[in-house]
Amino acid sequence: MPELAISGGEPVRVDKPFPSWPVWGEEEIDLITKTVKSGNWGYPKWEHIPEFERNFAAYHEAKYGICFNSGTSALMGALWAVGVSPGDEVILPAYTFIATASAVLLLGAVPVFADIEETTFHLDTKSVESFLTPKTKAVMAVHIGGRSTDMTALKDLCTRYELKLVEDAAQAWGAEWEHNRVGALGDAGVFSFQSSKNMTSGEGGIVLTNDRKTAEFCMTYANCGRLEDKPKYEHYYSGGNFRLSDLNGALLMAQFKRYPEMHRKRRDNAKILDGAFSDIEGFEPISEDEQATIHAYHFYLLRYNSDSFDGIDKFKIIEALQKEGIPAHPGYTIPIYKQPVFLNGAFGSRGKVIDKYMDYNSIYLPETECACNEEGIWLPQTMMLGDQDDMNDVVEAFKKIRMNASELKTSD
Ligand SMILES: Cc1ncc(COP(=O)(O)O)c(C=O)c1O
Repeated sequence: MPELAISGGEPVRVDKPFPSWPVWGEEEIDLITKTVKSGNWGYPKWEHIPEFERNFAAYHEAKYGICFNSGTSALMGALWAVGVSPGDEVILPAYTFIATASAVLLLGAVPVFADIEETTFHLDTKSVESFLTPKTKAVMAVHIGGRSTDMTALKDLCTRYELKLVEDAAQAWGAEWEHNRVGALGDAGVFSFQSSKNMTSGEGGIVLTNDRKTAEFCMTYANCGRLEDKPKYEHYYSGGNFRLSDLNGALLMAQFKRYPEMHRKRRDNAKILDGAFSDIEGFEPISEDEQATIHAYHFYLLRYNSDSFDGIDKFKIIEALQKEGIPAHPGYTIPIYKQPVFLNGAFGSRGKVIDKYMDYNSIYLPETECACNEEGIWLPQTMMLGDQDDMNDVVEAFKKIRMNASELKTSD
């Protein structure tokens, strides 16, 4: 009689959904309704965006916050504001969402991929150093899954080589490095409020910075190249309309009030899982530690070790978990440099191949490939909002797979 659901056994969870997403209530309805009735839906007649920018910046211990209509446009704004220009090289990891790299491409700059650390899946400072050239202008630190990158090492490197440091904190609201909230630890940092994110208004993004000039350039970039003190139809830079509407601003104000409680809940649940995984061979959580003091858990990231499962690949394990009713996910399975846009060299232009960039076909970053294809398993933030009973089921499913691994060898 098979035990595992993938081989016909009884699943751990049947008809028992994890918490739904997004979470909303009267507060969102009230603020949206008032905003609709006010007729002030967008710039310059807006109420919520400036207030949210101040509050979100203060929460992350930053001086300035500038909203954008997506995390991607916010990344473009941040890179542009710190001075990234066409032809400049920007070093970034390839274990990330495409937007980290496309923001660089869309500015006409050149993404240069460095490898990640084996244990954290974050940029490896030594690898970054090996890719420096006279054209390198900036480094992008991606706080993957909501856990902070080693900002001490990257800041030190950027100071030594006079490079700009931009944080892609799109997944890391409220995360900390050595008790300091991420976002303004470098020259600028970016968060996303797209619908899957831990804090959402459907779409949206924000840049945080402590530098007034950088903040002003961000505002200019998001506001059609205008300068605050100049007439409306004078445009001084190549910006666009990347502003967020005040309907999103209303949602963000309401969602932001919910955030601390949700942030705490995900972390409490992570502690339960951390404890359990210390007894389940083959799965190692990438968790909070001494320096990454607070993790935001956009996803709970596990390193899977196939050696302890007789070579069974991670995709089979994920399939087995899903059959048990656990929403496990393989995460990024293609290093960004292997995405068709990079292999084809068709940057920014439809169909036309531009060969002045580097040849991405020859790149091989071993730790990145390993994270994508062998080790990375994600458990989503919505699951992390469950109760103790939900976490018990998650643990039970992993233990069940551990104990009955031999069945996986024979299932198709
Ligand atoms: C790491 C990372 N960077 C950038 C983005 C881009 O954000 P958005 O989808 O809001 O443009 C996302 C999310 O989608 C992301 O996960």
